[in-house]
Amino acid sequence: MQVIHTTRELRDALAPQRQRGFVPTMGNLHEGHLALVKQARERVGPAGTVVASIFVNRLQFAPHEDFDTYPRTLARDCALLQGAGCDIVFAPSEQELYPEPQGYKVVPPAELADILEGQFRPGFFTGVCTVVHKLFNIVQPTLAVFGKKDYQQLMVLRRMVAQMALPIEIHGGETRRSDEGLALSSRNGYLSEAEKQEALRLSRTLQALIARWQAGERDLAALEADAMQSLREAGWAPDYLTLRRQRDLGPAVDGQPLVALGAARLGTTRLIDNLELS
Ligand code: PAJ
Repeated sequence: MQVIHTTRELRDALAPQRQRGFVPTMGNLHEGHLALVKQARERVGPAGTVVASIFVNRLQFAPHEDFDTYPRTLARDCALLQGAGCDIVFAPSEQELYPEPQGYKVVPPAELADILEGQFRPGFFTGVCTVVHKLFNIVQPTLAVFGKKDYQQLMVLRRMVAQMALPIEIHGGETRRSDEGLALSSRNGYLSEAEKQEALRLSRTLQALIARWQAGERDLAALEADAMQSLREAGWAPDYLTLRRQRDLGPAVDGQPLVALGAARLGTTRLIDNLELS
């Protein structure tokens, strides 16, 4: 007989199972997504199973956002996933995942989910947490991989898993970029060639913000206002450009790991990016 005092040991004792790695996506895949799949494959090993989901989740889109036009490219995505070492693609219909209106939701705490992205996309993280929690219940992974490209999303989901005691290890994947430095995103497909060139300005503005902080400037409000202004002058409509603590996305303070985050609209396309300070 065993006497067990921790949830982890209890779960190991009850269900000695093979590793199952999971990468949730909304499809229209690029190298960033595929890198997460490869990471999942490495982590579970050849005997484990890698599952990727493709589901454009209506719950995380506001009525004016691009749910209807979000690119749906299932056949191409499946070919790419196969090449990246994925074993199972889970691509449910909306009817399959939401057979009735999803009245039960996972609502993340305001201090994490109503700032930054959440301030400009109210309800976004409730939509994300609800679908990811539901997908976790369906796929039952032992580990899941999310990209740092969506830095706040990764943090919100890590905390959900911790607070709900879900038996899933969460791993972060580095942001994949084009050779010129543009963070890969399914939404880059909305950009014209000229806009793609201009889009580089977002990460460069974050770099400039970081450089000034590293040079010793500490008037955060002024640094952030200057960054917003320089984007506006180039024709962008910025939502935020800010320097935060990595740990909880609170305001930047000396001596703690920091991350610069930004979101801005270029034409009709909303882009986000972030850079960790080393
Ligand atoms: P989606 O935007 O398709 O992204 C799926 C995963 O790929 C996320 O973890 C995201 O952070 C990661 N990703 C996107 N671009 C990346 C890049 N350039 N480098 C590395 N990783 C990148 O995020 C979502 O879908 C949804 O909110 C989802 C979690 C699937 C819930 O619906």
